[in-house]
Amino acid sequence: MRVFPRAARRRTVVSRVAGIFILAASTYGLVLDAVAQDPEPAFAGAPGATAAARGRYLAAAAGCEGCHTDKASHGAPFAGGRAFKTPYGTFYSPNITPDPAHGIGAWSQTDLVRALRQGIGPKGRHFYPVFPYPAFTLMTTRDMADIYAYLRSLAPQPRKNRPHDLKFLYTFRSAMFFWNALYLHKGPMAADPGHDARWNRGAYLARALGHCDACHTPRNALGGKNEAMAYAGTKSNPEGVAVPNITSDHKTGIGKWSAGDLKMLFQIGMLPDGDFVGGVMAEVVTRETSKLSGPDLDALIAYVKSIPAIKNTISKTKKPSADSANSWQ
Ligand code: HEC
Ligand code: HEC
Repeated sequence: MRVFPRAARRRTVVSRVAGIFILAASTYGLVLDAVAQDPEPAFAGAPGATAAARGRYLAAAAGCEGCHTDKASHGAPFAGGRAFKTPYGTFYSPNITPDPAHGIGAWSQTDLVRALRQGIGPKGRHFYPVFPYPAFTLMTTRDMADIYAYLRSLAPQPRKNRPHDLKFLYTFRSAMFFWNALYLHKGPMAADPGHDARWNRGAYLARALGHCDACHTPRNALGGKNEAMAYAGTKSNPEGVAVPNITSDHKTGIGKWSAGDLKMLFQIGMLPDGDFVGGVMAEVVTRETSKLSGPDLDALIAYVKSIPAIKNTISKTKKPSADSANSWQ
């Protein structure tokens, strides 16, 4: 995960500043937590069997299962426990099966919608953006409701949540109130009338569900996305792994890739040179893009190909290891 990656690189200077910011913000946040919850209108459509089936597809496109499954310890799907190692400590994903005691069995649909839209739990608890709600906020309420219906259809797993193991300053959840005020652009996403329906569907798949920019857009010292460098990649995430530039720049991005090249990558993980993607992107392909329907895959490709060119050379410093899949987002 990449909440404060640049602070990680320039720890001595920046993390102190970030720390002071967070401490000050926490104090205010504690006071303001109560007003932080916008009322979320209840969704009218009653979720049934079809809603759960749609939710299953959407959950795959959004990568919910991968993050919420402790694959390394052969944990049950969606029962949580996967570790995300960051310079701020280790986060553990929670159990999101319908177990009433250990999972989210007691959550209403409105509770899940608020978590995805606002990054806030049922008791006003702020989530950390290691949970990519800054992307999920862009989903339609209908899609969130379908995901809720799918999660309700899973077998409850009585797996207890493991508390995060964070460094002192980062334990203040209420600081996220200020982070959200700065960086959370609440959805749902509006269609761009300057583009056709296919492009808009692709934008939705990439931004609201697939959260591609969570990795491919570099961040500032406080972990906010540097939108001026959208999708231009980063030389080094907190683990020193490079994330490539996927803008349409011909030299430093993927401007030379054809739609067919992108299709091979998103379907089977093969790169134009015959090599295969590694690390976290291999997981994105296996769990998310390879599960997309034909029309959705084409839509995603249309959107990715349209990303404005930004010159930014990213050279692979390290071969991504299997372990990097567990360590950041
Ligand atoms: C990149 C990894 C990642 C992805 C993808 C992800 N989550 Fe999470 N999620 C987390 C982490 C880590 C937390 C814990 C955040 C915290 O404690 O602040 C979390 C928290 C949650 C919570 C709060 C649960 C509780 O008990 O408080 C819910 C609900 C949830 N996620 C649902 C989802 C759904 C639904 C999806 C797919 C649409 C999803 N998540 C995708 C990592 C992820
Ligand atoms: C969890 C972080 C993460 C997410 C999410 C992610 N990517 Fe990636 N992506 C990477 C990394 C890291 C690589 C480089 C993998 C390698 O070196 O083998 C990569 C590689 C790529 C490449 C190949 C670029 C090249 O020059 O080789 C493309 C294209 C791409 N990603 C597009 C996407 C799209 C589209 C999405 C959203 C559906 C996405 N990525 C989501 C981390 C991510």
